[in-house]
Amino acid sequence: MKKMETGEDFLLEMHRSLQNPYPFYKELRDKSPIVYSEVLDTFFVSRYNTCNMILKEKQFGHTPNDMEEPSPIFDRYMKEYGDKHPKMKRRSILSLNPPDHTRIRNLASKSFTPRAIEQLKPFIENLSENLLRPNATHEIDLITQFAAPLPAYVIAKLMGVPEHDMPRFKILSDEFAKLFNPLSSDDDIYDGFVAKGELGKYFSGLIDIKKKDPSEDLLSKMVTDMESGYNITVEELLTLCTLLLVAGHETTTNLIGNGFYALMKNRDQMNMLIDDRSLIKNAIEEMLRYDPPVQMVSRVSMTDDVSIEGVEVPKNKFIAVIVASANRDEEIFNEPDKFDITRSEIRHLSFSEGIHFCLGAPLARVEGAIAFDKILDHLKGGKIIEEPKYRGNYNMRGLEHLRISF
Ligand code: HEM
Repeated sequence: MKKMETGEDFLLEMHRSLQNPYPFYKELRDKSPIVYSEVLDTFFVSRYNTCNMILKEKQFGHTPNDMEEPSPIFDRYMKEYGDKHPKMKRRSILSLNPPDHTRIRNLASKSFTPRAIEQLKPFIENLSENLLRPNATHEIDLITQFAAPLPAYVIAKLMGVPEHDMPRFKILSDEFAKLFNPLSSDDDIYDGFVAKGELGKYFSGLIDIKKKDPSEDLLSKMVTDMESGYNITVEELLTLCTLLLVAGHETTTNLIGNGFYALMKNRDQMNMLIDDRSLIKNAIEEMLRYDPPVQMVSRVSMTDDVSIEGVEVPKNKFIAVIVASANRDEEIFNEPDKFDITRSEIRHLSFSEGIHFCLGAPLARVEGAIAFDKILDHLKGGKIIEEPKYRGNYNMRGLEHLRISF
């Protein structure tokens, strides 16, 4: 068995390659397809077949609840906010194993139907039109003026959150996302816990409203199911709500931002798409492959120590599955660094695989398709005003701004 490699410089390299991590991923695939970072106490895997296997095999999942180490940051948060925020399950379905994962996920997917998504289409179209309406300056920051508000309002509409609450949600959601960034400082993590608690407080109030006055939205349906005996606690429902809100928010913003930036950098592809809108569906899959909003997800081996790429990985040790690297694996994809919207069979891992496959993928695809159709109507011929920068969140990859003149 090969000796465990330790990537002492791994964290440094992650920081260094924040703007363009893909050459770093290639180096990992070529030279260290599994690498252990002592600082992060995590193994990183980068090849497609290994990533895919870990996501699909039942042996890999999350540490059981009672195994969670007490963390000083969480304790600090509890001291400060323990009695100010409602009790919530610490873990969302993202990091639960069956049977709890199956039970809670099923409640959400019962209401998250293709019909519910279909009904949202006119709302998404109108909203997109409104957000892109030409202004006197003929300039737009595609991120802050379009890609960020659009998914926020869509998920709010789907869940039954009043639109006037959305600006506050955007702020809380951005803070909450810090919990998912491997580069977050202790203070960032603390802010993330506070934001999560505030979101819980809000949803707790909204659940009471939906109990008295249910309507057609997702939250009403879940509350009605809970009231009629579905096996879920209020603490679990609050956590599910915050997850739905946040999971569908920044990710979709980044699909639109990263995707449009790729089109701007590849004018031939942009022109092809302007001329033939039937390519949009495939173009979205290529955008998801090429520059995914979520770069990596994590698992542990739940049952035994395991050998991965010839390296011994102890049971319950974190394994980061770099889906963004898997998507560029030359063993699977022809010319993987080329952005090609006509590519066939794009088996990217950007929505993950296995039991945690993104619950919102159908919504993200519909939202993306409508958004790009409208963007191409309004912004064709547009120019980038200044080269954009990716935000400091290594895992949730997205641009800070994308200023376009049109
Ligand atoms: C382009 C947009 C999106 C991307 C790239 C994305 C990506 C992902 C990924 C990678 C996972 C799996 C994490 C893992 O395996 O550990 C996931 C899970 C999830 N996503 Fe998405 N997502 C997107 C949009 C959405 C939307 C719009 C919603 C809901 C409104 C949503 C809700 C969820 C939920 C609830 C889960 C947890 C599923 C589970 O653990 O069973 N996502 N997403």
